[in-house]
Amino acid sequence: MKNDNTSPVTVTACPDGPLLVRGDFSLAEAPGRTPERPDRKVVALCRCGKTGIAPLCDGSHKLTGFRAPSPPITP
Ligand code: FES
Repeated sequence: MKNDNTSPVTVTACPDGPLLVRGDFSLAEAPGRTPERPDRKVVALCRCGKTGIAPLCDGSHKLTGFRAPSPPITP
């Protein structure tokens, strides 16, 4: 998605790891919460469910041997 004067938002699935979100985006920690703009242009969202800092990745996927159900789609 691209808005005027903003960077497009992209989401990249890391193999057996987090989702990297890049661009001008806001992040709400739960439905109904006010979305906030992170102070950085890239965040890693956990998709293994083992992080201690949800919704962000803390690297726990490596310790738990998380395997994504399918490989990322490459363009
Ligand atoms: S994907 Fe990294 S801790 Fe879950």
